[in-house]
Amino acid sequence: MHRGPTKMCQDIDSPHGPAPFARHSLKLLGSRLAALPEYRDHEVQVAQVAWALVRIAESGFGRSIAPECFPLARRLLASVGSGSAEACEALLLELYSRLHELGSSYSAEERMRLDSIHGYINYPGGLSPILQARSWLRPESTSVDLGAGNGLQGILLQELYPHRRTIQVELSGELIATGRKIQALLGIPVERLVWAHTDIASVSLRSVDFVYLYRPARPTGEGEALYRRIAENLEAAPFDVVVFSVADCLGSYLGGGFCRIYTDGHLSCYARSAAKGAGEPK
Ligand SMILES: C[S@@+](CC[C@H](N)C(=O)[O-])C[C@H]1O[C@@H](n2cnc3c(N)ncnc32)[C@H](O)[C@@H]1O
Repeated sequence: MHRGPTKMCQDIDSPHGPAPFARHSLKLLGSRLAALPEYRDHEVQVAQVAWALVRIAESGFGRSIAPECFPLARRLLASVGSGSAEACEALLLELYSRLHELGSSYSAEERMRLDSIHGYINYPGGLSPILQARSWLRPESTSVDLGAGNGLQGILLQELYPHRRTIQVELSGELIATGRKIQALLGIPVERLVWAHTDIASVSLRSVDFVYLYRPARPTGEGEALYRRIAENLEAAPFDVVVFSVADCLGSYLGGGFCRIYTDGHLSCYARSAAKGAGEPK
């Protein structure tokens, strides 16, 4: 029987967590940001996100590949003493964006493929989907990021809500290689993050119950075919599924079994009809 993941993330309060000064700063950061509507009710989670980002920035790998992130991480921790909530948020988001773009390169062949399918390069989907996923991810969940970039979104999902597996699907080998290094330095077990260096269209969604995507392609031509394909694959999936779609292009292709359960203009969420009644019909 699957017992669900053992806790493997370095919790802020665990003995392996941050040094007392950093722990204090991170907790303060969480409570300061919770004054802003986007982070209300997510005080602990946003501190956990900051802790993961700071560890990446302060690691040998982070310092070698993105030296500007180390002072940024220090400024973020220091900002709780004097900065406004907005100033703290600006530093957090800057650190997140810089780490998100690490490894953003494509071989000539990958770039040709991306262009031919009207694909977008690696842009950050933001922190709000990570925070909102709290209500949906269970220890036994399998999640997937369709077009994962360097996998930071899926990595943060595993950090905050350890679960059975996250599948990171991405066309760029360099982004995947970078994501694997981030995974190793955060100590996320290999079986929890599966990297698929392939096209989203070729991925089976039969084992997943949580799908995340941030507009991997423009919804025209081959890009439109991609969204149709994802929707078909979801129809064939045997489990109840929740879909988190940033800058949503997928929703109009999902069948009647799905209903929209949330939208704020940035993130739209859908669930299979088992959740109908809880949400707004599509
Ligand atoms: C807009 S970015 C989203 C990155 C990340 N998921 C996030 O939300 O922060 C889209 C990513 O999808 C990848 N991508 C686009 N089309 C793809 C395809 N058909 N198969 C695999 N990856 C794809 C791109 O290389 C890029 O990294």
